Amino acid sequence: MTTASDQNFEGVDNPAMAPTPGWYEALRVSLFQFDPEEAHKLAIQFAPIAAGWIGKRVVDKRLRTSVAGLELENPLGLAAGFDKNGHLTGCLSGFGFGFAEVGSITGQSTGGNPKPRLFRLVDDEAVINRLGLNGDGADAISDRLAKSQFSIPIGINIAKTNLPAINGELAVQDMLHSFSSIKDLPVSFVTLNVSCPNTHEGILKETEELDQILAGVSSLNSRGLPIFLKLSPDSSPTLLESSVESANKFGVKGFILGNTTTARAGLVTAPARVTEMGMGGLSGPPLKSKALDLVRNVYRLKSAEQIIIGCGGVSSGADAYEFIRQGASAVELYTALIYGGPDLPLRMLKELLALLERDQLDVQSAVGSAHR
Ligand SMILES: Cc1cc2nc3c(=O)[nH]c(=O)nc-3n(C[C@H](O)[C@H](O)[C@H](O)COP(=O)(O)O)c2cc1C
Repeated sequence: MTTASDQNFEGVDNPAMAPTPGWYEALRVSLFQFDPEEAHKLAIQFAPIAAGWIGKRVVDKRLRTSVAGLELENPLGLAAGFDKNGHLTGCLSGFGFGFAEVGSITGQSTGGNPKPRLFRLVDDEAVINRLGLNGDGADAISDRLAKSQFSIPIGINIAKTNLPAINGELAVQDMLHSFSSIKDLPVSFVTLNVSCPNTHEGILKETEELDQILAGVSSLNSRGLPIFLKLSPDSSPTLLESSVESANKFGVKGFILGNTTTARAGLVTAPARVTEMGMGGLSGPPLKSKALDLVRNVYRLKSAEQIIIGCGGVSSGADAYEFIRQGASAVELYTALIYGGPDLPLRMLKELLALLERDQLDVQSAVGSAHR
């Protein structure tokens, strides 16, 4: 249902965001000549240099937000999957991010699914991936992070090692091993990713297993690190309810909403081309309405103290504002960076600030305002 304030939000005086700069449009043509995984490796390699070039922040007290007791300079975060192995914690402030997630890290190092497994849907500004949680493994990443600088608050995203033999009790132990390996690092929060669609088992549907993971993490969490749960936009209403119930039982402080979707609705890319790409999680703008639905649904189910971090198709300041109004205290993005370039967070923050100015709000007072 469209409310009066939604109409106002869509209104003509909605401040426009600065377009993608010409230099990135030119660079993108070259980057898109590369296989997407190769292009990503280049992005990781050149990120510290790019961060030095950009090196700007948008600082304004109206952008400040609080996430489970964690004070953030702004509500824009880097989603999990971009810096899987924790190479970029020292430079991420240079892109304007307020926080970031490293990972998903897994108990064991694995190579992930067979290639090709990452595809661009350029006409949709979207991506399909079935990487399958490839990464260096928790021990190596924790050693790397122990020697790294954290330029912004960093959360660690933990998933189960994607090997068919690791299930049931072994899956619980695997996730607890990852938690133990990072729990004493100067990290700000931990996300438990139980919603990756690219694993042998798919998203976690077993309440009992989730309870065991949450119970184990709680008993190891002597520092009281905020624990967040990352859920899937493909969850059934029953799964969503039971996941939030488990989260409440074990003191989970909030939800990352959410992961990629296996749905393919609403794409402009030719269906034959999409079929050719095969299985995997879809991300970017076609995911946005599903992610917003997830935020709305969990906003109703969660307790008042629990927070939401919105994620899925966020690519403008207006998108960030929409998620915030629906109940997110912060938002994260990944796919939009591929299409919008490394200075996208700065452009988004300026647009978000203009929207807050228009409505005489700050981020904290805008959280959940669509529900009031
Ligand atoms: C290539 C790729 C790899 C990803 N890897 C992970 C991951 O390891 N762990 C995780 O929790 N989410 C992962 N994600 C999901 C993102 O964190 C995010 O939830 C999703 O992409 C939706 O946000 P977006 O539309 O801004 O990309 C990955 C996404 C992409 C595109």
